[in-house]
Parts: sequence; C-alpha cells; structure tokens
Amino acid sequence: MPLGLDMTLLKSMVLAPVLLSMGIASLPLAAISLILRGEPFAVFNKNKLSEANFTLIWRLIGKPSGDDFKFSQQTISQAYGIVLDLGPGTGFTVCHFDRSKTTKIFGIEPNKNFHPALKKAVEEAGLADIYTIIGTGVEDAETLKSFGIEEGSIDSIVACKVLCSVPKPKEMAKQLYKLLVPGGQMLVYEHVKAKGGLSVFIQDLSNIIWPFLMGGCELQRPTEAYLYGAGDWEVKDLKPAEGFNGSEFITFTHGKLVKAKL
Ligand SMILES: C[S@@+](CC[C@H](N)C(=O)[O-])C[C@H]1O[C@@H](n2cnc3c(N)ncnc32)[C@H](O)[C@@H]1O
Repeated sequence: MPLGLDMTLLKSMVLAPVLLSMGIASLPLAAISLILRGEPFAVFNKNKLSEANFTLIWRLIGKPSGDDFKFSQQTISQAYGIVLDLGPGTGFTVCHFDRSKTTKIFGIEPNKNFHPALKKAVEEAGLADIYTIIGTGVEDAETLKSFGIEEGSIDSIVACKVLCSVPKPKEMAKQLYKLLVPGGQMLVYEHVKAKGGLSVFIQDLSNIIWPFLMGGCELQRPTEAYLYGAGDWEVKDLKPAEGFNGSEFITFTHGKLVKAKL
C-alpha cells in the first residue's frame, strides 16, 4: 500500500476528531459570547449559536498560512473589474486583491460578528474606497439587486472557502453563473467532497454535527460538479489543490471557470 495513502487516511482520522472536539469545546464560550452581547435567548436558537461558535473558531484557526495562504493569494489576486467577494469573513484574505485591476468589490458577508474585523482589514489593505460590505447572504437576490448586483453585472466572483456554507448550493451555482458578464470569471478555492476512500465515510459521519458546529459548513459537497453544471463555460479548470490527491478529509479544489461569451 503506498505510504502517501496511509498518511492521507491517518491525517483524516486525526483531523476529524480534533476539529470536532474543538467545535464542541467552544460551544460554552459561544453561549457566553451571546449572553455578553445582550442576547441570552439566542443561546437557544440553533442558527445563532452555530454562527457564534463558528465566529470563535474561525478567528482562532481561519488565518491562512503556508500553502493555504498561497492558494488564497493565487485565487484572489486574479480578480479584476467589478468583483463579488463571497463570504470574506474577518477579511483574512482581502489583502490579496490587486487594486490596480479592480474597480469595485462587494464583500457579501452575512455574519455581522465579522464586520468590524473585515472593515479593519479592508482599510489596512487600502481598499476602503472601493470595497463595500453587504451584510446578507449571497442568496438574497433582492438586497444584491439594490446594490446593482444583477444578471450580467459582475466580472469576477471570488469563492474562497464559502460554497461549503451557502444554502441550496446547486441552485446558488446557477445564480452566480447568471451574475457574471459573458467572459466573466469564477475564481475558486473550496473544500469539497472527498473522491474516495475512508475519508468519504469520515466526512459523512462528521457531517452529522459539523454544520451545527461550523456555521452551516458542509463537508461533502460536490462543488465542482455544481459549478460545471451551472451553465456554459469557456474555461473549466478546477483541479485538486497542489499537494492534495482529493481523498483527504478536508480536500480542496482550486482554479477558475470562465463564462462562455455570447
Ligand atoms: C470559512 S469562512 C471563509 C472566510 C474567507 N472567505 C476566508 O477565506 O478567509 C466562510 C464564510 O462564508 C460566510 N457565509 C456563510 N453563508 C454565506 C452565504 N449564504 N452567503 C455569503 N457568505 C456566507 C460565513 O459567514 C463565513 O464568513
């Protein structure tokens, strides 16, 4: 048996319980944070507790480093024109935008706990005059429209570790496709369903509780298939991120799609 496969399995079997334990251990702190915020009854609201829990966890472990930093940078630095930055969170990655290529960036971030840190990161990146934070989910087409985000209006969509969390991902992929101008690009760095092996089983098992602990994130989404099936693409270039073989517990797809011209 190849050693690489053994290591993949081993890492999956260690990583899953470590992350799940972290998610469970932080729940009391998430409850306390809601109480301190003056929202004691939110402790009994599944979605609010989940969001507060993920807020704590992401602040702790979300900052990209090493290859994760490199993949985020490679993805985001390609954005040009009018950009939709899906779920920027605390803004760990906004420093990667190349402002000489971008005219306007809309950061669609529904978790308002992240907004102060996101605003600070945007200012530090020197993007304050072109970056608008919109506090809603990307599925909220009406609010997006009030900002001029409608069919054929966006040059680049950045999807960096966010399509795991959006509701109705298959429909969402189609909606995002429509927002792009012909020739517009979808830049992707997403964790996805494992391609095979024991990790598939570990993902399925973990996913019983994972979305609650991690703000709605799901482990086993076939995001590449959803995006490929969203419409006609001129470029379809999503691959396992360098160093991944697709069978890890947390396994990433990376690359871009370009919408076919009319
Ligand atoms: C794992 S974090 C990634 C943050 C950031 N993209 C990064 O790479 O550092 C996922 C983000 O997606 C956001 N999110 C969840 N549901 C969303 C939705 N329906 N629309 C837009 N963003 C969403 C979460 O609030 C969170 O900030």
